[in-house]
Amino acid sequence: MTPVRWGALSTARINRLAFAAARASRHARFTAVASRDGAKARRQADEHGIERALAGYEALLADPAIDAVYVSLPNALHVEWSMRALAAGKHVLCEKPLSRHPDDVAAAFALAERNGLVLAEAFMYRFHPQTTQVSALIAGGAIGEVAAIAGTLSFRMADAAHDIRSSAALEGGALMDVGCYCVSGARLFAGEPTHVHAEAIAGPTGVDVELAAVLRFGERAVATFDASTVLPRRDRLEIAGRAGSIVLEDPWHGRAPSFELRRGDGAVERIAVPAHDAYVEQLDAVSQAIRGERALPFGAADAVAQATALAGLQRSIETGERIALGGT
Ligand SMILES: NC(=O)c1ccc[n+]([C@@H]2O[C@H](COP(=O)([O-])OP(=O)(O)OC[C@H]3O[C@@H](n4cnc5c(N)ncnc54)[C@H](OP(=O)(O)O)[C@@H]3O)[C@@H](O)[C@H]2O)c1
Repeated sequence: MTPVRWGALSTARINRLAFAAARASRHARFTAVASRDGAKARRQADEHGIERALAGYEALLADPAIDAVYVSLPNALHVEWSMRALAAGKHVLCEKPLSRHPDDVAAAFALAERNGLVLAEAFMYRFHPQTTQVSALIAGGAIGEVAAIAGTLSFRMADAAHDIRSSAALEGGALMDVGCYCVSGARLFAGEPTHVHAEAIAGPTGVDVELAAVLRFGERAVATFDASTVLPRRDRLEIAGRAGSIVLEDPWHGRAPSFELRRGDGAVERIAVPAHDAYVEQLDAVSQAIRGERALPFGAADAVAQATALAGLQRSIETGERIALGGT
């Protein structure tokens, strides 16, 4: 099978993980990188052994030798450029979070469907076998009905003053950058929230740099999480059911995959998961979906619901209010 020919839209730092994933993939190959600055594109292309460097994002969209575009722009530009790529006939893998504007997300997926193209939001942890194994255990009743979830993701920006995460105009902030994983994880295991509430601490540019949040899932479950872009590295996810719990110490990247299954009788089992690169799994899955070989497990409904939860949390940060969402 011919690998899908990918082009990177921007020279973002995250590209290096996507390029490495493609080198390990049988299904994908990066053949071009585009930047607002042609020299910058050339430098990144040379550094990663990519054939073509393009000046301007439009050049990538107009390139007939590109099948799919990897959108690694700042958050506020995700939907606009994903839609431009879809309008140009390209499949799209857009970096997380696709957006915190549910109507925009719905419009992007509607365009993808009209044009017969794949659009995917890059929450790579969902493609890691660690996540699928935990999902299967929970679906099989290993911990009973999910009742409470606690998530954490934090890291310290190296150069906060110049980081896109510090820009309100680019829709940065800790919720959008790292909290979005905890929201995604809570939704994966508990369904759609009915209410959300967040308390955040703002950094010098006004965006949230630390937050704690509560998600309520009707009378079924509650989830809490904390996330930060200014604290030392912390990763964790605990899913508590009525008959036991599962604890993951590396839920988002899965670099050292394994988790603990704690049964109601006190028995604790450590379950090791074979090493996998979540970025390779994701790129393989999306590339195979593009070639029609497999269906993606998450699509428009999931991405719209994710944006809805983020919108509610963002509003709660701004107003201090508890926000009712549409979930049941
Ligand atoms: N899945 C993951 O593990 C993961 C990890 C990190 C980041 N991400 C996501 O990936 C995206 C990029 O993050 P990053 O940290 O890699 O970004 P970054 O290094 O700051 O790069 C962003 C790129 O966007 C382009 N750009 C266009 N307009 C811009 C503007 N007004 N200001 C700044 N840059 C602009 C620039 O490329 P040109 O100058 O070449 O045009 C820039 O290199 C974010 O959405 C983030 O959430 C995902």
